[in-house]
Amino acid sequence: MSSAITIQSVTKLYGKLKAVDAFSLEVGRGTIFGLLGPNGAGKTTLIKILTTLMRPTAGDAFVEGYSVLSEGKAVRSIIGVVPQQNNLDRYLTARENLILHARMHGMRPAEYNPRIDELLELIGLSSRQGDFPDIFSGGMQRRLVVARALVHDPRVLFLDEPTTGLDPQSRRAVWDYIHSLKEKMTIFLTTHYMDEADALCGRIVIMDQGRALVDGTSAELKERLAHAHVYEVEFKADADRYEEVLRRLSFVKSMERTGNNFRLSLSDEESLKPLMDSIGSADIKKICLREPSLEDVFIELTGKKVRE
Ligand SMILES: Nc1ncnc2c1ncn2[C@@H]1O[C@H](COP(=O)(O)OP(=O)(O)OP(=O)(O)O)[C@@H](O)[C@H]1O
Ligand SMILES: [Mg+2]
Repeated sequence: MSSAITIQSVTKLYGKLKAVDAFSLEVGRGTIFGLLGPNGAGKTTLIKILTTLMRPTAGDAFVEGYSVLSEGKAVRSIIGVVPQQNNLDRYLTARENLILHARMHGMRPAEYNPRIDELLELIGLSSRQGDFPDIFSGGMQRRLVVARALVHDPRVLFLDEPTTGLDPQSRRAVWDYIHSLKEKMTIFLTTHYMDEADALCGRIVIMDQGRALVDGTSAELKERLAHAHVYEVEFKADADRYEEVLRRLSFVKSMERTGNNFRLSLSDEESLKPLMDSIGSADIKKICLREPSLEDVFIELTGKKVRE
């Protein structure tokens, strides 16, 4: 068996709301897998089911072959979890939080103490290990939660938005660390940062309304939009007038305006010349072809409207 995670047609209903809708997935061992999707897509619900915090309404899922329905204890012993909301024990110091976790996993002091030293060093909290998490900044708490998930050397690590609220330095430190774990474990993460998914994940699924929309590597997902000829045009002035002109051109399939900057999607490459003919070149400050980004793919698939 080379699948670390198998999800078999999992559905989760909250009353009438279908948060996860007959979702199936296999994640191979050693993968860094990224689950993306707008607010409310069902990502956290799926992670809660995989980590046995919640039972599915229908279907089953397996972590390293253990069923989340019937072998929850075995599942919990081999996974590490970073939940979306920090859930540190505020009456225990940073180090005690890690020790409690180690003991709950049956580790002995000789085993866990050096491991905890190493993790505290890694997250830059060695000198603060005697402090209570309440007086930590949000980012420090987040780093401690990530460290806690790793104390018992899990085989599968679930990270629900691991770097939300972290400063750029800490994000990169967490990325580097996640990357270095790749050989040893399977990592299942959710994120709203497209650059994070791009940098880390060997495979990405974008989900919405409980269902998977696309599945592939970052390059494969971008390739889906490679047919879109997207140009960025910036005018020196008169943007209102140009907006009118652009609106009337039949080969401009869509446009987005930010100040004097327009993002135009043209029907094909041949449209560039007629575009230039229509707007003239005098007032153009900049024009460039835009390679589709993962964010473009995300917006294209999940729409522009803000979710509740
Ligand atoms: N305990 C609950 N009771 C009722 N509805 C819930 C519950 N938890 C989640 N939901 C609903 O289920 C849907 C999916 O929520 P979920 O938290 O899984 O989304 P998400 O993809 O993690 O979103 P976000 O990116 O905002 O974290 C949402 O519509 C949410 O309101
Ligand atoms: Mg969530």
